[in-house]
Amino acid sequence: MILSEINIQKLINTAKVMVADNKGLLAMDESYPTCNKRFAKLGIPETAELRRDYREMIVTTAGLNESISGAILFDETVHQHLKDGSSFIKILTDNRIIPGIKVDGGTVAMAGHPGEKITEGLDNLRDRLTEYARMGLRFAKWRAVITIGKGIPTQACIEANAHALTRYAALCQEVGIVPIVEPEVLMDGDHTMECCFEVTEQVLHTVFNQLYTQGIILEGMILKPNMIVPGLSCSKQESIDEIADATVKCLLRTVPAAVPGIAFLSGGQSSELASARLNAMNVRFKNKLPWELSFSFGRAIQQPALGIWHGKEKNVPEAQKALYHRAVCNHAARQGEYNIYMERE
Ligand code: 13P
Repeated sequence: MILSEINIQKLINTAKVMVADNKGLLAMDESYPTCNKRFAKLGIPETAELRRDYREMIVTTAGLNESISGAILFDETVHQHLKDGSSFIKILTDNRIIPGIKVDGGTVAMAGHPGEKITEGLDNLRDRLTEYARMGLRFAKWRAVITIGKGIPTQACIEANAHALTRYAALCQEVGIVPIVEPEVLMDGDHTMECCFEVTEQVLHTVFNQLYTQGIILEGMILKPNMIVPGLSCSKQESIDEIADATVKCLLRTVPAAVPGIAFLSGGQSSELASARLNAMNVRFKNKLPWELSFSFGRAIQQPALGIWHGKEKNVPEAQKALYHRAVCNHAARQGEYNIYMERE
């Protein structure tokens, strides 16, 4: 890829800061349907104003920047404003939290491949990214979804998704935006941890093969993978340490040392388990790995706060306390210093 030295350095610097100081990323980029689904479950009205209120609650949490280096926003949010009139991008930037943006268009059924999904959103992406860069957004996210089931995933689905992820990554780097490359192997199902390992290994090999083929600057990207876990309904659920070991083993086999950081998604794990598993990886492997092991959690940071907030202004202080707590727990997990007693304070 033809990028100037200045732009390459800018990408590398941003990617480094995203995973520096044991901080991590906060995913608050739920699309309309996903955010509405989570609101509906709690009986919160599914309106643009309440989505705005909710996200204002998140970004005005005092001290969030002690644990959070960057926040992933949704397009709707970057066009909204806080009650005081400032933009979400400005408040984050003023608080030294790097603003990022989800740019994929969500998943649809993959033609000819029952049960499998492909992520949309490449059309006009160059123009959208140029505008986002102008607005001050410095990194982006694209999520590909791989489902484990009978006869799936197919190599066709893995390759198509890896190709799209890489075309997105190239367009990001062209305008100086750091791509978060997120190939998520879903936890749904009764498959074993070994099965998750094999599929994730295959997916990551395919993704990095594409990233290499298309000339992506590995130093200027962040990988956002799933942890290696058994399916949610698998009868055998491995221990926290076994999951930590399997996850690191899989990543060592597949992720080049040039990548500065790996920021896990939580994928439906409970908040406590996501922190405990990240913590175990850092207890066992911190400073022995070529990349930082960090977090880019959505639900595992937000879920308790969303339940407390419940769409009501009067609940904002308590909700912010819960959000701050989860951020602190994950900051500790990055240092191998999280423990269950933190949950009882
Ligand atoms: P979860 O941590 O809730 O899986 O969300 C992370 C994310 O950004 C998914 O794309």
